[in-house]
Amino acid sequence: MAAKDTPTSDMKVGIIGSGLIGQSWAMLFASAGYQVGIYDVEIEQVKKALQNIEQQLLDLEEQGLLRGNLNKQEQRERIAAASTIGDCVKGAFYIQECVPERLDIKKGVWGEVDKIVNVDVIMASSSSSLLPSKISDNLKHRNRFVVSHPTNPPFYAPLVEIIPAPWTDDDVVPTTKSLLERIGQVPVVLKKEIDGFVLNRIQYSIIGEAWRLINDDIISAEDLDKVMSTGLGVRYAFMGPLETAYLNADGMKSYIERYAEMIYRIQTSFGQPLPMGGKTGDKIQKELESYVCPVERVTERRQWRDKRLAALAKLKKEMDKGDSAS
Ligand SMILES: NC(=O)c1ccc[n+]([C@@H]2O[C@H](COP(=O)([O-])OP(=O)(O)OC[C@H]3O[C@@H](n4cnc5c(N)ncnc54)[C@H](O)[C@@H]3O)[C@@H](O)[C@H]2O)c1
Repeated sequence: MAAKDTPTSDMKVGIIGSGLIGQSWAMLFASAGYQVGIYDVEIEQVKKALQNIEQQLLDLEEQGLLRGNLNKQEQRERIAAASTIGDCVKGAFYIQECVPERLDIKKGVWGEVDKIVNVDVIMASSSSSLLPSKISDNLKHRNRFVVSHPTNPPFYAPLVEIIPAPWTDDDVVPTTKSLLERIGQVPVVLKKEIDGFVLNRIQYSIIGEAWRLINDDIISAEDLDKVMSTGLGVRYAFMGPLETAYLNADGMKSYIERYAEMIYRIQTSFGQPLPMGGKTGDKIQKELESYVCPVERVTERRQWRDKRLAALAKLKKEMDKGDSAS
């Protein structure tokens, strides 16, 4: 493919690493019609991954949540196990690496790929925190490198952060963005790399303040979680904090006039973050075991979560369709 072309849906994508995230990417690309090669250093793991994918496609079909226009079988047939990394990336215009979050492993994988790819391939990492410049600094094709950081679970939380390295070619980010839109994800672009990217920086600032409020005995863990799930989180499912502010006053200027002073006063009271752990960690763990579930039952509780996320994703999709029709 010429680098600036829009990828068409009969082209091949290579997925390296067939764990949780690799499986999700494989399903997402297949749902849009791409041919997918999937490789894992553990041969047994790829077999397991394909079985999981089969089951997940079945569940999605039953719930009416299959993506794209292809049926379950057509989507499944687009995903093929590759026995070597070379087979996986051969003919691929886009490679999504999904190996564990360790710099040595990621560098090892990309070092191998770097020897065999074409000059116009896009090399994307699912990295959650490792900076693109750290992973790609020694690669010959480092100008084709980018991070495409998905949100878990990618099927129901479509956000992907695209983060270029300082040396990434200008066409890589827009081509990646249009590809991710084509498969139904919602890409956002960071103009430059920063530790934690954006999603985790915001998430960690929330966790930091939650920790302080429980540590200082202002609120219980259960009530703190309710502040998000029945308060802030309800509107954040549909709009971000800036739009929230815009609508909570008559625009941003009016919001600033009304609330900026108070917000700044409170923000300056936050102080240094507290390290997570210690007595507060034990207290939160105990409370969670009581109002969520014992640790042994978290798998069941994840299924509960995914069911709700799936229902919300369906509702959002229907409402978005309604918005564009009106
Ligand atoms: N799980 C999440 O919530 C989440 C969310 C966003 C991004 N990520 C990122 O996605 C990446 C993968 O995470 P995951 O949760 O799928 O991990 P995982 O442990 O479920 O899967 C990793 C897979 O990579 C394989 N692997 C290890 N070394 C390899 C090698 N040299 N070559 C090929 N395969 C190899 C493993 O056998 C395993 O199957 C990480 O960078 C992670 O930070 C994870």
